[in-house]
Amino acid sequence: MKGFILGIVTMILILALGLVFALMGFISVRADIPPSPLETALAGRAMDAGVEHAAPKLSNPVTADEANLAAGARLYRDHCTLCHGDSAQPKALLADSLYPPAPQFNTKMADMPENQNFYILEHGVRWTAMPGWANILTEQQIWQTVTFLSHMHNLPPAAKQVFTETPPRTQP
Ligand code: HEC
Repeated sequence: MKGFILGIVTMILILALGLVFALMGFISVRADIPPSPLETALAGRAMDAGVEHAAPKLSNPVTADEANLAAGARLYRDHCTLCHGDSAQPKALLADSLYPPAPQFNTKMADMPENQNFYILEHGVRWTAMPGWANILTEQQIWQTVTFLSHMHNLPPAAKQVFTETPPRTQP
């Protein structure tokens, strides 16, 4: 019992010290430095668990046909390229400027289940640069983008053309 109380007191002291440390300005606010491996692992686990817990178990209502994939490619190039890259710019313009960095989908595919990608796209990811798109895109457009993400490395010709040849709207 004594050890348990000591443990709780130590925990509270560590949290209080952390708070003082932050309020005195000792925590860097820079976005253009990489997070430590420990922070990446912990935050990544928390993000995965949070999304898995919250994302409704929806199935994708959009068929992965050429028209939907082309529409998804256009939406991706208009809204996502700047942070996540595309085939012309596999390393996105903002790749080294966000904290945490945005995954680069052209080199590492978005591998979460589609219902979770839909949830992330709708609501964004707190404490990161990932915006929620529900106020900007329709549900149909979000599903088209999710479908595009799942097929990004295996596109039919019309969608591939949109993905590789049309300029992204977010070009500088
Ligand atoms: C301003 C930068 C920015 C824009 C624009 C942006 N994202 Fe993100 N996105 C991020 C960041 C940063 C993360 C990483 C969040 C994290 O580490 O949990 C992320 C995470 C994601 C994830 C989760 C990936 C994973 O496996 O953890 C998906 C899916 C995603 N974005 C899709 C998109 C799509 C699709 C668009 C366009 C509609 C988009 N993002 C636009 C910055 C951005």
